[in-house]
Amino acid sequence: MGMKSDIKLIDDNGLRIDGRLPNQLRPIKMEVGVLKRADGSAFIEWGGNKIIAAVYGPHEAYPKHVQEADRAIVRARYSMAPFSVDERKRPGPDRRAIELSKVISEALESVIFVEKYPRTSIDVYIEVLQADAGTRVAGITVASLALADAGIPMRDLIVGCAAGKIDDVVVLDLNKEEDNFGQADVPMAIMPRTKEIALLQMDGDMSYEELTTAMDMAMDAAEKIHEMQVEALKRKYIEEVDENE
Ligand code: CDP
Repeated sequence: MGMKSDIKLIDDNGLRIDGRLPNQLRPIKMEVGVLKRADGSAFIEWGGNKIIAAVYGPHEAYPKHVQEADRAIVRARYSMAPFSVDERKRPGPDRRAIELSKVISEALESVIFVEKYPRTSIDVYIEVLQADAGTRVAGITVASLALADAGIPMRDLIVGCAAGKIDDVVVLDLNKEEDNFGQADVPMAIMPRTKEIALLQMDGDMSYEELTTAMDMAMDAAEKIHEMQVEALKRKYIEEVDENE
């Protein structure tokens, strides 16, 4: 972000380097229930991102001192595979992964009815297998599906979506080149039903007016992504019914 360059990110026709319009999402595919041994799981392909999420819990929280007497704690762990990025990523958590794990945990916690499960932990593992910018928001989106698959009651499915600014234009869902050479990236997590925002970060710079445009774009996109989530959950349910008949 913010790297000065002569790379043109928007062409004379107003299209982006991957041919998208400013308010167009990358292609997204979701699948629910991809792992047998997790309580819930899901997989997402979002542009060049490939991310799997698995949920374990609610289970008694350990060590005991982390337990909360009146609610469950939500522990998300964001992790990037060594082969997920251009330059081999050293295995294990770095500062970035620790930050992302924290903000993702908080975003997910805001939709889960944590008060239903005192003294427990709900563990969410987000494994980035291939990264192409926007992994935290894709991670939140797929984690939300894994939580639903685990049967954990939630106020709403939560949707992650980023918007930003490239070549002075506000755009939706930045890819890797746009993230590297663009001016701003604003990852958000949105509850589509109430339009509440559970995560809002900003890397780079944009004006207040540009930020509101970016937020409006992400809100509209969140509705579309939410429909895809519902379809993905239905597909799994229908498959289960078919298998049992
Ligand atoms: O992925 P997200 O946009 O949420 O987070 P970021 O910190 O803005 O990273 C943007 C992108 O940079 C990632 O999605 C990866 O494609 C890439 N990246 C990388 O190549 N090597 C790293 N160690 C971390 C990120």
